[in-house]
Amino acid sequence: VDTARLRAGGGVKWGLAASDVLPAWVADMDLGIPPAVRERLADLIRREDLGYPYWRDGDPVVASFERRMRDRFDWDPRPGRSRVLCDIIQGFQVAIELATRPGDGVAVHVPAYPPFLDSIASAGRVVVPIEMVEIDGRWGFETDGLAERLRAAGCTLLALVNPHNPTGRVFDAAELGVLAGVARDLDLTVFADEIHADLAFAPNRHLPFAALSDDAASRTVTATSATKAFNIAGVGCAVAHVGSDAVWERWASLPNAYLGAPGVLGRAATVAAWDESQDWHEALMRRLVANRTVLGAWAAAHPSGLLLLVPEATYLSWIDFAGTPIAAGPAGVILERGRVMLNAGADFSRHTPVDTTAFARLNFATDDVVLAGVLAGIDRAVAGGA
Ligand SMILES: Cc1ncc(COP(=O)(O)O)c(C=O)c1O
Repeated sequence: VDTARLRAGGGVKWGLAASDVLPAWVADMDLGIPPAVRERLADLIRREDLGYPYWRDGDPVVASFERRMRDRFDWDPRPGRSRVLCDIIQGFQVAIELATRPGDGVAVHVPAYPPFLDSIASAGRVVVPIEMVEIDGRWGFETDGLAERLRAAGCTLLALVNPHNPTGRVFDAAELGVLAGVARDLDLTVFADEIHADLAFAPNRHLPFAALSDDAASRTVTATSATKAFNIAGVGCAVAHVGSDAVWERWASLPNAYLGAPGVLGRAATVAAWDESQDWHEALMRRLVANRTVLGAWAAAHPSGLLLLVPEATYLSWIDFAGTPIAAGPAGVILERGRVMLNAGADFSRHTPVDTTAFARLNFATDDVVLAGVLAGIDRAVAGGA
C-alpha cells in the first residue's frame, strides 16, 4: 500500500485524514483495482469513446449481472426485470417511495449502514430496528415474536443487508427462512442489499434472498454492485432486480430521466470487474483472510476487554469497547489519542432507540503495515484510560 499515493489522491478515506492519521473507516480498500478494470477504462479513454452508449446485443451490465448470479450464487434472475442504477442507495430510495407510504415502518437490522437509516427517516418512514445481538458467540437476531413486533410497528418493507454491514454476518438458510416467513405473513416487500455477497469467507456461503422460494422471489428487490468487492465505489454503478410485480409495475412506469443512469466508465468498470477479474478477487480474499486472522488474534488477546466477533464476510469489523475505559465514545478517543480514524458506532443506530455508542467499525482492507499501525493506535488510545 502506497500511503503517499493514497494521501495525495481524491478519495474521501485518506482525504479526510490528517497527515498523521491512519484511516480505517469508510468502505473503500487500500488495495488498488483489478488490472482488467484499469485496462477497460483506459481503452475507452484511448478510443475517446465517451459518447452516449449503444449496445447491439442488450445492456452488458445486466447480462454480466445475470451471468454472475447464475454462476456464483445459483440464482436465475428473472429476464427483463433488472435496471441499472447509479448506486445502491438510489435503488433503496426508489424502493421506499414505490413500496411504502409516509408513516409506514421499515424494518432493518441494527446496527445498520447509516445511509439506510437516513434514507428511511428522510422519506418520512419509521425505522423499525431488528436488533443484532450476540447469540452463542455469533451476531444474530431474536426470531421469536418478530412477526408480531413488525406488524405492530406497521412495517410494509424489510431492508435486508446480507452479508451484513457492519457485523459481517452471512445470514444462513434458517435465518433467511424466518425472514421470508415473516415477509410472507405480513406481505412485506423486501429490499435485499447483497453488495457484499462476493466478500463471504469460506465456508460461509451467500444465499440470495430471492432464490429462497417463489414467494420470496415475488416480493424482493435485489440490489448489488461491483463497487465493494472490486474497489470501484467512485465510478458509481449498481443493478436492481425487481422481483415484485407491484413494485415493477410502478418502477417501469417511471420516466428514465427521473431515475438517471450511470455513465459509461462505471458500466465498463463493472463489467470488467464481474467478467474479467476473478484472479484479482481471489488474491484479494487471501489478503483479507490473512488480515482477519491478525485482527481476530489481536482482539482475542487484548488486555482491555474489547470484544470482536470475527466477520464471516466483508472487510469491516464491529468492535465492542463497552468493557474498556473509552466506552463513552471510542472512535473519538481513538482519533484523538491513537491517530486512527474508525467509524463511530453511534452512527449505525441513528433514528432508533438502540444504543451502539460503545462500538466502532474498523475497515481492515489494507496491507499488514497499515493494519499493524491501526491496531497499535487503538492500543495507545485504550491504554490511555478514560
Ligand atoms: C451495505 C451497503 N450498501 C450500500 C453501500 C453503498 O453502495 P452505493 O455506493 O452503491 O450506494 C455500502 C457501502 O459501503 C454498503 O456497505
